[in-house]
Amino acid sequence: MSEEKINFYGNYHKAIRRALFEISARAGLIDYLHDDEAIARLTDEFMRLTRALREHSTHEDAYMQPLLLKYAPEVAEYMERQHATLDPVLDVLDEQLNNVTSAADRGAAGMAFYAALNRWIGAYLEHLADEEDVANPALWERCPHDELADSVARFRTSLALEQVASSFEFMLPALSAPERADLYLIVRDNAPKPVFETLLGVAEKTLSDNDYQDLKQRL
Ligand SMILES: [Fe+2]
Repeated sequence: MSEEKINFYGNYHKAIRRALFEISARAGLIDYLHDDEAIARLTDEFMRLTRALREHSTHEDAYMQPLLLKYAPEVAEYMERQHATLDPVLDVLDEQLNNVTSAADRGAAGMAFYAALNRWIGAYLEHLADEEDVANPALWERCPHDELADSVARFRTSLALEQVASSFEFMLPALSAPERADLYLIVRDNAPKPVFETLLGVAEKTLSDNDYQDLKQRL
């Protein structure tokens, strides 16, 4: 019997992509010359997104990178190089956005941020695809299934309930109905009942009524 492939990246990457496209669209709508309130909202949203990306990077470093180093060192090095190029740009973008309202030409500064953000998103999308198309197959081929399963299980138990709840809130709107159900079935079968109940509450709050009812029917 072939074992089910473990995909550490899939669900979270979907959520990241959704958030990246959303922030790109929102950044394009803003009147950078006049609308301080919209710039402040975008700054908040960008901060939340970069926090999620940095956290995700930390989790990859702790739970996937050691396996890649052991079984696919050339892939580990390739991923390391991508992170070394991409991660520092977040600080640059952060500063660029924070300086828009004090710039001599706010309109130009806003458009420069918009262009830089989208250039970065383009590069980051390629990185996400490489993790899925290069790192995942290398692990599936060379890392024993149990070792990968163990690493993912350790990752799951390392998270406080609050962190799981906020990652579910981030992921749920980006997942297909069967993917949502899979996520909740793992929780139902492995976590204490109150944790399952709390996370169901997150689904109720986050999803439309139809999607929430659909999820409950699948459980
Ligand atoms: Fe990564």
